[in-house]
Amino acid sequence: MHIVVCKVPFYRHSLDQSYAGDIARVLDTPFLTTGTVSQAVEHQLCEYFDVPHAALVNSWTNGAIATLLALEIGAGAEVIVPAMTFIATANVVEILGAKPVFVDVDRDTLTMTADAVGRAVTERTRAVIPVHLYGQMCDIRALRAVIGHRPEIAIIEDSAHSFESTCNGYRPGAHSDAAIFSFYATKNVSCGEGGAIITRRADLYEAVLQTRSHGMSAGAVDRFAEDRYQHWDMARLGAKANLPDLLAALLPRQIATVNDRLERRESRARRYEEAFAGTPLRTARLVPGAVSARHVFPIHVPPRVRDRALTALNEYGIGTTVNYRSVPTLTYYRQKYGYVAEDFPVSYEWGEGTITLPLFPSLTMEEQDHVIATVRDLVLPMI
Ligand SMILES: Cc1ncc(COP(=O)(O)O)c(C=O)c1O
Repeated sequence: MHIVVCKVPFYRHSLDQSYAGDIARVLDTPFLTTGTVSQAVEHQLCEYFDVPHAALVNSWTNGAIATLLALEIGAGAEVIVPAMTFIATANVVEILGAKPVFVDVDRDTLTMTADAVGRAVTERTRAVIPVHLYGQMCDIRALRAVIGHRPEIAIIEDSAHSFESTCNGYRPGAHSDAAIFSFYATKNVSCGEGGAIITRRADLYEAVLQTRSHGMSAGAVDRFAEDRYQHWDMARLGAKANLPDLLAALLPRQIATVNDRLERRESRARRYEEAFAGTPLRTARLVPGAVSARHVFPIHVPPRVRDRALTALNEYGIGTTVNYRSVPTLTYYRQKYGYVAEDFPVSYEWGEGTITLPLFPSLTMEEQDHVIATVRDLVLPMI
């Protein structure tokens, strides 16, 4: 029996004191909020994703609200979302008074399929939010083909997990109306809280610049340009979603080195896959030819042993989390819409049995060995 107890956190970020200088430089500029540092990061994002427009925001959630406001999606509209995702994907739709229409995910990849979306489309559908779960992209081109006859249906990619991902050689933002990233504390690129919207649509970009800042016709830098006050107008309703330069300053170096860290994520994810091959543990199937950002590494055990397995891992010093329980079966959505577990059986079954293991670029061999041995010695015998 493996009895070594060493602490392995669920996540360890990649920032350190060397970033203090990047923040200090912002303190010497007039605008601590959205200004020239943010603009430089937006250019960097445009180059990385090969898109013409990027707008930094203070979270994925507020970025999605700003995008839905810009697309004028609200009461009476339906937005198709997967049942297996973080609650934010559905909540932003609900907050704006529209209806999230859940679809179940594919049993192997755990992502939303174009066929499922095709079956859920109604005359009220105004958007689809595919989620590139755990770092693996949905095929946006296939999705576009299914809803191509309805150009008023926007595709907004939830790219919170998929900064580095590709699908059939293309990146997020290539075939959608917009892709939205999260720079939350545990994400592959992080500034604690933050996000970005990228889009190929000039009209959507112009609208988002307003909806990320109360609906104002000019941001802080423009309002005080040329050292004199300039009036602004408010032609549409907006949220408060802009990212301050103080946080944006943490991003340029991370974006420049993100592919190096992806290699480290990939090698550690493969090591888990090799260690668990041939066991009853299930993992998300990766589509050949796609690049996964390897955001997190979930395994699946029979639901009857999941909570005991979580406790055992925690007792052995291993940080864990659950990504995710099926969203429509959480109390709010169940009570409001009357969903039952069987409505989305794949999401439900995965959500009741999944456990996310530690995966981050600085995870050491010794730490990973401890996780693997604990799963082998304590979790597998429970099954
Ligand atoms: C799939 C997914 N969508 C959206 C979000 C929300 O991101 P944020 O915390 O930046 O609002 C998250 C965050 O964990 C996520 O995992």
